Amino acid sequence: MKIIAANWKMYKTTQEVESYLKSWSHFETASPQQVTSVFFVPNWCWSTMQSNSPLLNNSQWGAQNIYPQNEGAFTGENSPHVLKQMGASWTLVGHSERRTLINESNSFLGQKIKSAQGNQLNPLLCVGESLPERELGQLQAKLTEQLSTGLSLADKSLPVYIAYEPIWAIGTGKVAGPQDILEAHSLIHAYLKNDMLFKGPIYVLYGGSVKPENAKEILSIKGVDGLLVGGASLAPDSFYKICQAAI
Ligand code: PGA
Repeated sequence: MKIIAANWKMYKTTQEVESYLKSWSHFETASPQQVTSVFFVPNWCWSTMQSNSPLLNNSQWGAQNIYPQNEGAFTGENSPHVLKQMGASWTLVGHSERRTLINESNSFLGQKIKSAQGNQLNPLLCVGESLPERELGQLQAKLTEQLSTGLSLADKSLPVYIAYEPIWAIGTGKVAGPQDILEAHSLIHAYLKNDMLFKGPIYVLYGGSVKPENAKEILSIKGVDGLLVGGASLAPDSFYKICQAAI
């Protein structure tokens, strides 16, 4: 089973989401055994996703960020408990844009993972290196640091969901080469299985300038268990083509 996820970032009004979901509902979706499609939507669209859930077919949805607590004096933050109550089943954790713009630390992200799991939400932890880090040969060290601290409080019996997104390939049109992707995905799979001893299934998605034209090739690389798609997920037909590439 492959996971194909859409990251809508800070795009789309509620009206645009409604019309997207209407188009989406006309597509014949694959069975969830073949592909699980997930929409990571902006916060103001949670209730739109909830009220239009019959249009989702087999697809699931989630938030782009949660706070580690379910309620309290945390102005502007998102409650994982409420998210779950509204019908979501996922949350992104530690997208590189939040790590860079909002300075989210690995240990803070670790608390979010624990809280997501405690609320029966699947956390998709984003990891990846910058171009200077790759050029300095720091890929393995960087991934290990992000995974070890980010997953330090995670339940080892549950499935693990990771998105490998090299920062230099996000929104730039530069896709990592097959060798780059193979290397990173192999490192992540090996580390989670051998060093962190996760017992459940492990899914490692690739993200960074994925399009309908390159999706099939990327999905054929060993250790790529799905895709996280930004720009090319904003139109339903383009995202649908990417989902079809997984079948
Ligand atoms: P992109 O974004 O597909 O536009 O490169 C991916 C992401 O940021 O998750």
